[in-house]
Amino acid sequence: MRKHILTWIIACACISAQAQQAKTYVIKADSVKAHVQPTMYGIFFEDINMAADGGLYAELIKNRSFEFATNLMGWTTLQKDGGDGSVEVIDRAKERPENPHYITLTVKSNSGYYGLSNEGFRGIGVKKGEIYIFSTMARQHAGSNITLTVQLVNADGTILGKAALTPTNTEWKKCAVKFVANATTENAHFDVLAKNAGAIDLDMISLFPQHTWKNRPGGLRADLVQKLADMKPGFLRFPGGCIVEGRDLANRYQWKKTIGDIDKRENLLNRWNVEFKSRATPDYYQSFGLGFLEYFQLAEDIGAEPLPILNCGMACQFNSGQTVPLDELDPYVHDALDLIEFANGSTDTKWGKLRAELGHPKPFNLKLMGVGNEQWGENYIPRWKIFTKAIKDKYPYMQLVSSLGPDPDGEKFDYLNKIFREQHADILDEHYYRSPKWFLSNAARYDNYDRNGPKIFAGEYAAHAEGVTDPYKKNNWLCAMAEAAFMTGLERNADVVKMASYAPLFANINAWQWAPDAIWFDNLHSYSTPDYYVQQLYSLNKGTDVVPLTLNKQPVKGQDGEYASAVLDNKTHTLIVKFVNTANETRNASFVMQGKKLKTTGTLTTMHSDSLGKVNSIQYPTAISPKKQNIALAGNKIKLVLKPYSFNIIRVNYIK
Ligand code: AHR
Repeated sequence: MRKHILTWIIACACISAQAQQAKTYVIKADSVKAHVQPTMYGIFFEDINMAADGGLYAELIKNRSFEFATNLMGWTTLQKDGGDGSVEVIDRAKERPENPHYITLTVKSNSGYYGLSNEGFRGIGVKKGEIYIFSTMARQHAGSNITLTVQLVNADGTILGKAALTPTNTEWKKCAVKFVANATTENAHFDVLAKNAGAIDLDMISLFPQHTWKNRPGGLRADLVQKLADMKPGFLRFPGGCIVEGRDLANRYQWKKTIGDIDKRENLLNRWNVEFKSRATPDYYQSFGLGFLEYFQLAEDIGAEPLPILNCGMACQFNSGQTVPLDELDPYVHDALDLIEFANGSTDTKWGKLRAELGHPKPFNLKLMGVGNEQWGENYIPRWKIFTKAIKDKYPYMQLVSSLGPDPDGEKFDYLNKIFREQHADILDEHYYRSPKWFLSNAARYDNYDRNGPKIFAGEYAAHAEGVTDPYKKNNWLCAMAEAAFMTGLERNADVVKMASYAPLFANINAWQWAPDAIWFDNLHSYSTPDYYVQQLYSLNKGTDVVPLTLNKQPVKGQDGEYASAVLDNKTHTLIVKFVNTANETRNASFVMQGKKLKTTGTLTTMHSDSLGKVNSIQYPTAISPKKQNIALAGNKIKLVLKPYSFNIIRVNYIK
C-alpha cells in the first residue's frame, strides 16, 4: 500500500519538467474571502492509548482503588526480612457502590515486613531530585499499630526513595507523606510494606510527583500539557471519541460521575481495553482522576474553547449499538442541560454552586457541545432532535456539533448530511482516517460546499500510511505532508470549515491501541510527531483573513504536486503563506502581493525530509520538525527556493 502511494506521489511530481521554471504566485491582499475563526485549529482528546490514566493524569499507581475486574491486577504481594501476612480484597458495594473495594493488609508477626508492590503503568518513571507524594485512605484495625514504609524501587532492587508513616486512626482517613528520589529511571515499581503484627485497611493508594502542570496536587503531567499549550489550540474536544458512547450503554461516559472527591469517582472499564484483539490492554481502566472539571480547567489553562461531546442515548455502533428508548432519554438530556449549568451557571444555581464548591466559581463560558460522538443511521435522528430542542430552548446561544458518522462519504454520510442540512444544524462533524493519497486528492473538498449551510468541524482526521485496520501505522513524513497539503483546503474554505482537529492526540509507547497519534510518550519522555508539528504550524499561523493565492489565476490545490493558501493577520499586519511541495524536486517560487506593500524582510519556516518514510522518535524527537530562517525580499517579491517534499510557512509583515 505504502509503495503504491509513494509511486503515486512521484508520478504527480513528474508531471512537471524536471528543472522547474520560476513561477509567480499572486496574492490579493485587498480581496478577503473569509475570516479565520479563532477556534479554527484545536485538539481532540480521548482516553485511548493510555492517554489519561497512564498518561496525562500524573497518578503513578495503577489500580489504586482495587476496582479492576481482577481486583489485585497490577499488584503483587511482598515479604521482606522474614515477614508474613495476607492481603484480602473486601467488597463493600452496598455501602459504597461507587468505590466498592478496598484491601485489608494483615501482618502476622512483629518481625520483618509484609506488603504489596505496584508495577505502575508499564513501570513507573522516576526523576532524580523530584518530590513524590504518597497518600492512602487508611484505617487501623482496633489494637493494631502498623507502620507503613513506602518506597520506589528500581528494577535492579535499588531503593530510589522512601518514607514511613503510621496511620493512627481507626476510621477511614487520608494519610500522606513525601520523599525525594535519588536517581532517574523509567521502570521503577512501588512498594507498600507493613510492619508490626495487626491489620490495616487501605484504599486509594496513590503516588504523584509534586511537580505537575501548574503544580496542582494530584494533577496532570506537566511535560504533556506543555505540548498542548504549545499548540495554542482554539478548542479542546473531550472526552472523545468512542469512549463517550461506551461499548454498551452501561459503560458510557457519564460526566457527573467524574467530578468531586476522587475516591467517589466510580472507576470504569476503558472501552479500548478489549477493542482490538491484537492490542488487548487488560489493565486499561478509567479512574476519572482526569474528569470533567479537570477537562474544563485544562481548556481554560491552554486558552482553548471547551467542547464536550455527550452521549445521546446511543452506545458505540461498532460494538453493541444499544439505544435508549426515546421515552427513557430524559436523564441523558438532563446530563447535557446540567452540564451547561455546571459550566456556565451562576453560583446560585444547583450545578453552578457545585462548580464553585469544587474550586471554580468563575464560569467556563461553554458555547459548544457535541450531541453524540460518531453516530450514524436513523436511530440518531430522533435522539438528536430531542437533545437539540431541549438545549436550544434553554440555551439558545449553544452551538451544537452533530455527527456525520465515521466516513467522509458514502451512504451513512449522505443520509445524515442531507437531514442535518435540512434541519439547519449548526456544525457538522466529519471524520476521515484515510490514506495520504486521499488527503492529497481532497484538498478541494470544501470548495463547493454550501456557503450558507451548516459549518464544518473536521473533528477527527489523520492520514494513515498503511491500511486503516493495520495497527502498526507510522506517523511518517508522507502522512504529515499530506495533511499539511489538505489543510490548505481547510484554510481556503475557512468560511465553511470552522474547526479542525487531528486524532487521536496521545499514545503511550508501551500501551497503545491505535496508531498513528500526534504525541507519543513513555514514563519519562515524550515526542511530537511530524503531524503534531503540522497542526501546530497551522495553529500558530492561522491569521485572521483568508486572501486568494493563485498561479495563472487558479488556486493552487494539487497542480504539479503543489498546495498553497494565504492569510493575513490583521492584528500583527502579517502576510502568511502556506506552501506544500509534495514533489521530489525544488520549486523556484516568487510570491507577489497586490493591494498592500510588503516590508523587506520576513521568515521562512520549513518542515522537510528527503525520505517520506521518516519518523520522529524518543531518540530523535525532532528529526522532522520546523526550521526557521530569515528571508529578504527582492523588490516587492518573496523569491524562494522551496525544498522537495516540504511544508513551508512564509511570514512577511506588510505596511498598514
Ligand atoms: O480516534 C479514535 C476513534 O476513531 C474515536 O474514538 C472514534 O470517534 C473514531 O472512530
